[in-house]
Amino acid sequence: MTAAGKEGLVHIEHLVKSYQRGGQHVPVLTDITLDIQAGDFTALMGPSGSGKSTLLNLIAGIDKPDSGVLRVDGLDIAAMSETDLAHWRAANVGFIFQFYNLMPVLNAFENVELPLLLTPLSRRERRERVELTLSMVGLSDRMDHTPNELSGGQQQRVAIARAIVTDPTLIVADEPTGDLDRQSAGDVLALMQQLNRELGKTIIMVTHDASAAQQARTLIHLEKGELIADAA
Ligand SMILES: Nc1ncnc2c1ncn2[C@@H]1O[C@H](COP(=O)(O)OP(=O)(O)O)[C@@H](O)[C@H]1O
Ligand SMILES: [Mg+2]
Repeated sequence: MTAAGKEGLVHIEHLVKSYQRGGQHVPVLTDITLDIQAGDFTALMGPSGSGKSTLLNLIAGIDKPDSGVLRVDGLDIAAMSETDLAHWRAANVGFIFQFYNLMPVLNAFENVELPLLLTPLSRRERRERVELTLSMVGLSDRMDHTPNELSGGQQQRVAIARAIVTDPTLIVADEPTGDLDRQSAGDVLALMQQLNRELGKTIIMVTHDASAAQQARTLIHLEKGELIADAA
C-alpha cells in the first residue's frame, strides 16, 4: 500500500514479459499497469494470442515477469524462490482450467481433497471441508464418481470445488467455460458469481466469450500485449 492510493490485492506496474522461441525474442506483454481490488470479479478479454494466459500465469505465480512490479496481497511474488512460490500458490491461489485438469483415477471427493493433503488438517477435518465444498457446487450426490462418470459441467464444478477448498486469496480461471455447452457454461458462471457475491471471493477470469465476461464486475481488454480499455 502506497501513500498515493489504494493498492489492489493484485498490483501491477509496467509489467513486461517475453518468451524466447527458436532463438527469437517474442514480446508478449509490453507494458501492463493494473490494479485488481480484493472482492472483485474481473474478466480479462482479448483475442487469441494477446497474452491473456501469460498475464494470468504471472499473477498466479506460475511464471515470472522480465521486469516491472507485481505484488499480490503486498507480496513481491516475482522475487520469491520457486519453493516459496510453490507453497504460496498452494495456500493462496485456486486454479480453474478450460479442460478441468482433474485426476482421472480419483473420484470427485478425492480430487477436491488433493490440495488439502498439503495442509495440517486432520482426515476428519478434510472430509468435512470436502463434503461442504462439494455440496456448495451441488455435487453431494456425485462424490464417488470419477471424472469420466461426470459431464463436462459437473467436472468443471468439481474443479471449482478443488479451487476453493483451501479458501485461497485469489481464484484464477483460464477460459473456464471454453469447453462447455451453453447450459453448463451458465451453471459454472452462476456458481462463480455466487462465490464472488456471497463469499467475497476475488476472481480473475480469462475469457474470449463476451456473454461470460458480462457476468464479471470489471472488464479488462488485452490487445497485442497491452491493456486497451478498462470498463470498471
Ligand atoms: N511458453 C511459451 N513459449 C513461447 N511463446 C509462448 C509461450 N507461451 C505463450 N507464448 C506466446 O505468447 C503469446 C501470448 O500467448 P497467451 O498468453 O497464451 O495468449 P492468449 O491466452 O491470450 O491466447 C502467443 O504468441 C504465444 O504463442
Ligand atoms: Mg490463453
